[in-house]
Amino acid sequence: MPNPSVRHVLIIDHRADALAAYFAARRSDLVCRVRSATALTPGDQEWADAVVGFSPPGSLERSSFRWVHSTGAGVDAWLDTPSWPNGVTLTRTTGELGVRMAEYCVGHALAVSQRIAPFYRDQQAGQWTPVEPSTVRGTTAVVLGTGSVGSAIGAGFHAVGCRTIGISRSGRPASGFDAVYPVDRLADRVVDARWLVLAAPLTPVTRQIVGAAVLAQCRDTVLINVARGGLLVTAAVLDALRTGALAGAVLDVFDTEPLQPDSPLWRTSGVVVTPHIAGVTHVEEAGAAFLDALAHLESGRRPPSAVDPARGY
Ligand code: GLV
Repeated sequence: MPNPSVRHVLIIDHRADALAAYFAARRSDLVCRVRSATALTPGDQEWADAVVGFSPPGSLERSSFRWVHSTGAGVDAWLDTPSWPNGVTLTRTTGELGVRMAEYCVGHALAVSQRIAPFYRDQQAGQWTPVEPSTVRGTTAVVLGTGSVGSAIGAGFHAVGCRTIGISRSGRPASGFDAVYPVDRLADRVVDARWLVLAAPLTPVTRQIVGAAVLAQCRDTVLINVARGGLLVTAAVLDALRTGALAGAVLDVFDTEPLQPDSPLWRTSGVVVTPHIAGVTHVEEAGAAFLDALAHLESGRRPPSAVDPARGY
């Protein structure tokens, strides 16, 4: 791993001031420049040794920085360039995202099973409708992605008595899962899934992976997407909700964010829309991840948070 000398840090995250204060308190040798991604000058990119942010400031082609630290876990926006510039290191922040996303996923699974929204609607209408809730215990959760986030989600479903199946590129065993299968087995593993959770990075392999072919195998499944909107085909999800292959969809991420006002997802029965809040990175996590990666780079070691641009995570 190259050893870039890092002094000038350009911060374009929406919490840039807080990140700059975090760095100043710990590494007074760093010079931070705070900019909004839309107000960057070409000079800013020339000045920077490293860039810290959630998504890229337009084209990276003409930039001279040697390192990008993503304040998010997903780096698809950074890698969405014709080719990642050679010799530029890309690191990311994972922090405790897995714990937060696991609570989101299990919380929504329990809410669906306990019919919290329908009972609340009945209460608003003054209606007494005694429908027995179902249980999460004894159901199967299939989780696409078995990295730190996917594993935490698997462990969360395990804790409430589910059988947990992981799906990953390699199919290697991973913590939190009773069994893990390679990605080409997704369609046949979803057959038993009550919960189909998407927690994988958006890469050329996973883009639109949940489309008509996978959804056709679902039976009364609830889809939960905490990864990226690009993992699924929205039209196929709407069809599957119509046919009953999907019993519901809990969606935190979308192709376009904020979700467009005219999207049918807002108003489709069985769909829960949340505004990309399932795994918010805290400033301290992004700051600590940056400084940890910096310490590795300064001593010529590959940071554990480094992404393989060809693989996409
Ligand atoms: C959130 O979307 C992240 O990538 O961390």
